[in-house]
Amino acid sequence: METILQVVDLWKHFGGITAVSGYELELPRGEIYGLIGPNGAGKTTVFNLISGVIKPSKGKIIFKGRDITRFRPDQVSTLGLTRTFQNLRLFPSLTVEMNLKIAAHMHARCGFWPTLFNTPFFFREEKAIEERVETILELFGMREFAQEIASNLPYGWQRKLDIARALMCQPEVLLLDEPSAGMNTSEAEDLAHLIETIHGEFRLTMMIVEHRMPFVMGLARKIQVLDYGSVIAFGTPEEIRNDSRVIEAYLGVGDLIA
Ligand SMILES: Nc1ncnc2c1ncn2[C@@H]1O[C@H](COP(=O)(O)OP(=O)(O)OP(=O)(O)O)[C@@H](O)[C@H]1O
Ligand SMILES: [Mg+2]
Repeated sequence: METILQVVDLWKHFGGITAVSGYELELPRGEIYGLIGPNGAGKTTVFNLISGVIKPSKGKIIFKGRDITRFRPDQVSTLGLTRTFQNLRLFPSLTVEMNLKIAAHMHARCGFWPTLFNTPFFFREEKAIEERVETILELFGMREFAQEIASNLPYGWQRKLDIARALMCQPEVLLLDEPSAGMNTSEAEDLAHLIETIHGEFRLTMMIVEHRMPFVMGLARKIQVLDYGSVIAFGTPEEIRNDSRVIEAYLGVGDLIA
């Protein structure tokens, strides 16, 4: 199977702190992988490095065969890799529809628009964006909220809108940083169904950082466990559940396991 995203020996130091140490990844196209680990393990830093938000101290990031290690976030996004942030980044006083449109305009150079339509650039872009908004509203069951102000939406819907915004650029790889954070159980179950739907619909490759175990175990084909910036375990959800190093990292019961 094709590896769409490869990370080789990735390191990040913040002053005296080593947030990521020798992280590696081979993400096959079309798969959903999970990335779990205790608070401060380096999960968000890994996403920041892959998406170009910060630069690594050392290591290599290869996306679709291209070395993107030193790319800016907009260049990474243009190539087809998008991420969401742990904290919502909506425009709270704008409508749902405007939030989606602005997301597309912020990525105005994303490869999708110019190639599809054979009309002057502005019009073909506007038309493509409007069609994309319609598709996303429908898929997310958000049509009735299209003209609602984002901050008036229930929290679970705001988080969904954040994912919807990320999809406006037609990513091939989507990195989700704690998508179910702050949701109640039924909202999280609902979100899991939605992620399965968009995964199938857009043939997305995904990586999900999560603290909610049933959520990530239900979605991911394979899971990496990060502790102190290194992958300490990698396997199917079943393998991870029974891995003594994982139990130790999470529960601090090393003495009981040895
Ligand atoms: N910009 C920064 N400057 C200095 N230290 C940082 C910076 N970003 C992250 N760190 C540190 O790097 C380590 C890893 O942080 P990171 O946010 O990646 O963890 P995380 O696994 O995402 O945690 P959480 O589950 O709480 O979101 C932490 O010790 C954190 O304090
Ligand atoms: Mg984090």
